[in-house]
Amino acid sequence: MEPALEAILNVLLESERAGVVALDGLARKAENDDLKRLLTTSCEDESATVRELENLIQTAGGIPSQRVGPFAAKIAGAGQLSQQLQLLIHGEEWVARKIEEALSLAMIAGPVRDYLQKMARRHRFEVEWGRAELIRLMSALE
Ligand SMILES: [Fe+2]
Repeated sequence: MEPALEAILNVLLESERAGVVALDGLARKAENDDLKRLLTTSCEDESATVRELENLIQTAGGIPSQRVGPFAAKIAGAGQLSQQLQLLIHGEEWVARKIEEALSLAMIAGPVRDYLQKMARRHRFEVEWGRAELIRLMSALE
């Protein structure tokens, strides 16, 4: 696999892994049932993405990173739940942009491009829906 593509897939892998850690922490902290459910579901989705990305990189001949992205620690240290959620949304937006960047490096048709397209669609939706949902829940909590 091309080194630049392997590198960016590993950035995505590390970020999704950070997402799992962050979402798990926030789900435990959330007291509102709807919010807890939303965070738990997202956490399960991100866990699945971590496993799929590991397989994808390995199958394409690369070496999956074992690291957790810096995003997890940033969220853990962000203070109140509302601030942490805000940061979480920014993180998802960042990942969504990185996926587009990865897609521009994966021009050859095949499993990597297919998976990135699927991941891009899911993240665009997640960012939009997640933002709307969190704003609704946060205003309900105030
Ligand atoms: Fe994600």
